[in-house]
Parts: sequence; structure tokens; C-alpha cells
Amino acid sequence: MQPVKTAVFPVGGQGTRFLPATKAVPKEMLPVVDKPLLQYAVDEALAAGIERLVFVTARGKSALEDYFDIARELVDSLQRRGKTAELAVLDDTQLEPGRILYVRQQEPAGLGHAVWCARHVVGREAFAVLLPDELLWSPANPALKEMCAAYDRLGGNIISVLEVPEEHTHRYGIVSPGTVDGLITEVKALVEKPAQGTAPSRLAAIGRYILQPEVMDVLAHGKRGAGGEIQLTDAMAEMIGVQPFHALTFTGTRFDCGDKAGHVMANVALALERDDVGPAVRAWLKTQSL
Ligand code: G1P
Repeated sequence: MQPVKTAVFPVGGQGTRFLPATKAVPKEMLPVVDKPLLQYAVDEALAAGIERLVFVTARGKSALEDYFDIARELVDSLQRRGKTAELAVLDDTQLEPGRILYVRQQEPAGLGHAVWCARHVVGREAFAVLLPDELLWSPANPALKEMCAAYDRLGGNIISVLEVPEEHTHRYGIVSPGTVDGLITEVKALVEKPAQGTAPSRLAAIGRYILQPEVMDVLAHGKRGAGGEIQLTDAMAEMIGVQPFHALTFTGTRFDCGDKAGHVMANVALALERDDVGPAVRAWLKTQSL
């Protein structure tokens, strides 16, 4: 199996749930402790051996490009002042020229449309998609790396899933499961945001995908689905039966950072794990009547 080398990051969303902060700052740049949300997804992709990162952006997202560029004045000033620790922190934000490519999504026509906007960069190879809103925290076994290992064995298409409460299934792409083998579930069908009480299971897609390039051909039809948008889930559903399609259950901790409560929880949980800020946050939490 050819390794997966390209990852697509749909980052064109307006982030209305995080207004007013997102009036001037893209939601992907909101920090979890001290790193922007997007950096966690980029780190995960790099840990999985991804070589080329494609950001599908939109108007008002130029802060993302500046963030992954070299901030020459800042670097010079830190060097002059001998701030080596701060310089090292910038390393992961400065990828080699040409490793990140930017494509504009000109209209908010849905996740499937965003992925399709990257088709010329993706070419005719298997590729990954990472939704940065979903912070999949698993430093020892990064989610995409585990998916790549599964892809190596199974080929076809692999999506990351997690069981969600029945009453939340209407928020997600839901798997209709076939044979189960440990953490791998055969995908028989997929449904985007099923109406309450109609979900075929509680296995929800949580924003990580390894897909075959043929999904781009399906997306090219521009068929509208749930919410009147071009849905990635609908295009993937058309590949089932034509190509192998499996779900890998994520075993780490997932934070839905597209949601305010999820974002706060991610900040608290990740802060508690750190040696620098963890003790202070833990001590303060203990003084709170929870
Ligand atoms: C998107 C996908 C959905 C998936 C979810 C994960 O929905 O369409 O299938 O389960 O991400 O976060 P959105 O959250 O953009 O509405």
C-alpha cells in the first residue's frame, strides 16, 4: 500500500459559535492552552508521516498563512535577546516552503465541497482529511497514525469513529455497522445527521478520514444533502460496496472544540497534563465548589 502523503484541512468555516472572538481571529487560531487548535491537527498529521498539507481556507483566514510562515522580525528579535526556548517553540509552526498549500473555498457549500476544492492538489492518490475542530488527544498513539497503520492492512477508506450518546447522533455522520473485529468495524452504510431516533448505531464519525481519490469524482456531482450542503458523508456512502470501507474506533480522548464547552474542557484537561501550568490549575480547581 502506498503511504498516505497528503492531508486536507477544511478551515474555511466562519466560526459563528465563537463570536465575538472569531470576528477578527479565525476559530482555528483560538488557543488550547498556548497552541492554536489547528496546530494540534497539524502535529497529528506530521506524526502520521504526512508530507503535504492542504488548507482549504476562505476570506478572512489570512492569519493562518501568517502563522505557518516565518515571522522574520520576531525571530530576529528573539535571537538578539538570546531567547532560545521561545525560538524552539516556533519550530513546529515553520514548515519547509511548499509543504503547506492553500486553496480557497469561495462559498460555504459544505464539508464535501471544501474537500472537493482540494482535488487538483490531492491528485489521484489516497489522502487524509482532518477537521481541526475535533481535537483527538492521544500523544502516544496519534489518531491519524493509527488510521494509517489500519490503512496499510486494509486499504480502501478508513474513518475514525467513537460511540456517542443516542441523543447526540443527530449531530454526526453515523455508521451502519457490519462485521466487528476489535477496533475495526466494517461500514455498511453512512448517514449524515440522522433525525432523532433513526440512527443505525451510535458510532459517529469524528473528523478523521483516509479516502480514495474517487470520492472527488462523486463530490464533483455537487449533490446537496443534509442542511442543503454538499456532504462528505453522502459522497463516502456512495463508495461503500465499490471499495473497502472501515471505521477505526478512537481510543484516546476526544474534545469537540467546535463547541464552547468542549473547547473549555480541552483547555482544562490539557493544562492539567502540563508540568508548567498543571499544578496551578489543579490547585485552583480544588478551591472551587464543583
Ligand atoms: C461534520 C461531518 C459529520 C461529522 C462531524 C464531526 O459535521 O459532516 O459527518 O460527524 O463533522 O465533527 P459538522 O460538525 O461540520 O456539522
